[in-house]
Amino acid sequence: MSFQPKLHILFRQDEIEATVKRLAAEIKEDYHVKYPLLIGILKGSFMFLADLVRLLDFPLEVEFIRLSSYGQGRQSSGRVKVVQGLCSEVRGRDVLVIEDIVDTGLTTSFLLDYLRKKKPASLRLCTLTDKPSRRQVSVSIDYLGFTVPNKFIVGYGIDWSQKFRNLPDICVLEDERPGVV
Ligand code: IMP
Repeated sequence: MSFQPKLHILFRQDEIEATVKRLAAEIKEDYHVKYPLLIGILKGSFMFLADLVRLLDFPLEVEFIRLSSYGQGRQSSGRVKVVQGLCSEVRGRDVLVIEDIVDTGLTTSFLLDYLRKKKPASLRLCTLTDKPSRRQVSVSIDYLGFTVPNKFIVGYGIDWSQKFRNLPDICVLEDERPGVV
């Protein structure tokens, strides 16, 4: 790896924990009698989803879907496709999508359209982080953890080229090369 990554903490573990608790309380209020289907977007949402569902003490189902859009770099290709699909029936279910980050909005908007075609009873979005300054398509977020600045973030499941997912904090990844953000 030729570039020297420099990380600084944006959200500490304890802040993340408090935010996940707050989101769980909001979700519980709306879904505790609905037997919802939570769909985590792989891989970035795995840690968030695992912490979130442990706080949801009512019946629910968990599913995963894997999409591709980013490749190896920091820029979205804008071309989203389903790499690994769902096993559960979506029709008639109260579906809650669990995302790690909404950036341009292209990935989430693709997924919401994809799921809407399967005729769920309801469809909502929960994202741990949102980078509204980079939005290209409008996305309506029902449950939001943190708003983040226009920086590349890693940690708590979120990666750069498959690295840094295991960091317990959410960090900004700075590129030390001049002119690269
Ligand atoms: P979007 O399609 O541009 O909204 O991007 C959504 C996906 O891009 C997320 O699920 C992440 O996998 C990835 N992504 C966007 N911004 C970041 C970032 O700051 N760090 C790591 N991954 C990101």
